Amino acid sequence: MRFDIFTLFPDVFQPYLQTSILQRAQQKGLIEVHLHNIRDYATDKHHITDDEPYGGGGGMVMKPEPIFAAVESVLGAPPACPVILLTPQGKTFNHQIARQYAQLETLALICGRYEGVDERVREHLVTDELSIGDYVLSGGELAALVVLDAVSRFLPGVLGDPDGAVDDSYALGLLEYPHYTRPAEFRGWRVPDVLLSGDHGRIARWRREQALLRTWQRRPDLLEKATLSKEDKAFLERLRQTQATLRQGENDEI
Ligand code: ADE
Repeated sequence: MRFDIFTLFPDVFQPYLQTSILQRAQQKGLIEVHLHNIRDYATDKHHITDDEPYGGGGGMVMKPEPIFAAVESVLGAPPACPVILLTPQGKTFNHQIARQYAQLETLALICGRYEGVDERVREHLVTDELSIGDYVLSGGELAALVVLDAVSRFLPGVLGDPDGAVDDSYALGLLEYPHYTRPAEFRGWRVPDVLLSGDHGRIARWRREQALLRTWQRRPDLLEKATLSKEDKAFLERLRQTQATLRQGENDEI
């Protein structure tokens, strides 16, 4: 899969792209990342990419011409692939969107900076707007890396473990069970005995119950959509009853 990233700060991508999973994915030819500096497409003497907003007010706005020129000269006019603008005003990125994008041959990501980009970029060049959460970053670069990383994990061969992306929390519809590694005891804190038992059936059941417990405690909304077995439902029912009993005890004390 090919990613074309349009940014004023291409250098910030390099360290992350040259590390670990994404570096290997590029070496294996599973992903190609092309970084394009929007400034290179500004035709004036000083390569200006921003200007004051019409109508006044603070901050600067990214000019449309260099962004259109960059995207169209790399991907054609109009581009054949989705063109994503990273912005806090976009749809919130999630696991499902990442999986859908992983079906594409090419994805273009435009990183906004300053107060925003000229509205004509949104209207006439961009096909989707994505946010990575309800907070404002200094620019879209970190968000583009988040999208690139999460999408790449769905491409066959990117993860060493072929089940990796499937086992990840949101794929199962549940949060992940707790993980432990050696030593079996650290500062007096022991790894749960069941994990040392070698009994694969008991370990699988314990992990499933821990995943259910964690999801019930932290993200009960996920349980409504998760695929649950009869045993899962019985376990959750026991959790609910235990909680109800504890609450009753607290009320009796008052
Ligand atoms: N640019 C600035 N903040 C952002 C956010 N939360 N998501 C995506 N792009 C952004």
